[in-house]
Amino acid sequence: MMERTFVMVKPDGVQRGLIGEIVSRFEDRGLKLVGAKLMQIDRELAEDHYAEHTDKPFFEDLTDFITSRPVFAMVWEGQDAIAQVRTMMGATDPADSDPGTIRGDFGLDMGRNVVHGSDTEPGSAEREIKLFFEDSELEDYERIDEPWLYE
Ligand code: RTP
Ligand code: MG
Repeated sequence: MMERTFVMVKPDGVQRGLIGEIVSRFEDRGLKLVGAKLMQIDRELAEDHYAEHTDKPFFEDLTDFITSRPVFAMVWEGQDAIAQVRTMMGATDPADSDPGTIRGDFGLDMGRNVVHGSDTEPGSAEREIKLFFEDSELEDYERIDEPWLYE
């Protein structure tokens, strides 16, 4: 199934110069970039985005961190994009992430896990895309290799 998912390089990934590396991994896989921007998240957006974690003990630290510096927000499209991106990111805690995943290759600490990607709960990706992007910021186009990526 063709899907869109919301992904962002978190402030630690931007500060460490990992935007290009992370974009390359998704591009190389065959996913299509349909929206992207460098932006600073304000507190309201952070609280909306992480609303499911409002009551968790790490909520304050998480929202402080995510609003502290710019993030690189993206929308990626492709077959089963939501689950494929989650697999490529690795486990939430980089200590448990397999080598070859983004977190397993670039992270060590739960609170500095480099990337966010929408989870596979129905509606999560669509909700997050709408939080971060206007429709006019998303592009519909074909990649030249699409006939070779899909049967
Ligand atoms: P994300 O939303 O950032 O893509 O990560 P995720 O789905 O893999 O993990 P989630 O459960 O949604 O947690 C969101 C972020 O909160 C931080 N966290 N800290 N200290 C803790 O126990 C703890 N648990 C979660 C992580 O930065 C995680 O990515
Ligand atoms: Mg999550």
